[in-house]
Amino acid sequence: MTAALVNSPAPKLLVLGGGYSGLRFARAALAQGMAVTLSHRLASPHGSGQTEGGVGTGLRWLPFDSERGVRPEAGPLAGTSHVLVTIPPDAGGLDPVLSNLAPLLGQLPLQWVGYLSTTGVYGDRGGGWVDESAAVQTSLPRSKARLTCEQLWLQTGWPVQVFRLPAIYGPGRSPFQNLREGRSRLIHKPGQMFSRIHVDDIVGALLHCLRLAPNQRPTLVNLADDRPCPSTESLGHAAHLLGCKLPAVERFADVAAGLSPMARSFWAENRRTSNRRLCQELGYRLRYPSFREGYRACLAEESTSGKGIMG
Ligand SMILES: NC(=O)c1ccc[n+]([C@@H]2O[C@H](COP(=O)([O-])OP(=O)(O)OC[C@H]3O[C@@H](n4cnc5c(N)ncnc54)[C@H](OP(=O)(O)O)[C@@H]3O)[C@@H](O)[C@H]2O)c1
Repeated sequence: MTAALVNSPAPKLLVLGGGYSGLRFARAALAQGMAVTLSHRLASPHGSGQTEGGVGTGLRWLPFDSERGVRPEAGPLAGTSHVLVTIPPDAGGLDPVLSNLAPLLGQLPLQWVGYLSTTGVYGDRGGGWVDESAAVQTSLPRSKARLTCEQLWLQTGWPVQVFRLPAIYGPGRSPFQNLREGRSRLIHKPGQMFSRIHVDDIVGALLHCLRLAPNQRPTLVNLADDRPCPSTESLGHAAHLLGCKLPAVERFADVAAGLSPMARSFWAENRRTSNRRLCQELGYRLRYPSFREGYRACLAEESTSGKGIMG
């Protein structure tokens, strides 16, 4: 991730949603010479170290909150060439950015727009592999809403790439804190697989894609690592790295009724996400091909920062 950006003389990036992935991407883009603005809903956004619009860290923050009707001014966004959207559909299933900022974005000289979506749109595949050519077949309302948002983004006529993500992990979003505090649960459901992606591979893959020539950027790209596996396996490895005991195994069938509806919906779908397009066709090399390397790196970064990514 050290090469300079080559397809724009003065790239100017707007990250809509400076949350977990958005902030990590913003910091990496800044380090590569982009001018970066992020949106936030909080009075004092994570990692800003200053009030909005300040330049203390080199990142500029602007307020955007679709629910409170707070929108950024057009002035500071003039000349924006690249946009990353991390904001999910709202409670009504609408896209907060398109519903509020489409006229503003439409005036910008956009060269690349990345939209972070979810592999949830593929629905349940009985543990089979799924790639971008698969028909979407979800029955979950939130995944249907997501699919509608994807389609609306692709219909804008802007140079949009949709990135479909499985579970995101990384420093500050790893299993270690829960393991240390005895709050982890080791739930086993026969045959159940989960895919995941380290946040720095989201960042690396996005930078890789925005550097591609426009005619070489696929519209849909899955961002996932090489190693889907049962959550018992990944949690077992995390406990091994920490040198702590695993909790007792619980059978999914015994505990399902007590899980939250959101957790139950995750367990209801079973698929393995293929990264063949990203890694073989587009030539991206994963920094963390599996949770094994990824968790080790999280542990190292969490021990150094003491508080993980947002610190
Ligand atoms: N987490 C996962 O495992 C996972 C898996 C698959 C896909 N995804 C999707 O990938 C994307 C990035 O995930 P993430 O975990 O990095 O997200 P995140 O940390 O939750 O960040 C989302 C950002 O959107 C902002 N936001 C949310 N609703 C908004 C609204 N109505 N108006 C303005 N801003 C709003 C949030 O603001 P605040 O900072 O103020 O909250 C935050 O900055 C999301 O779309 C997520 O749904 C996530």
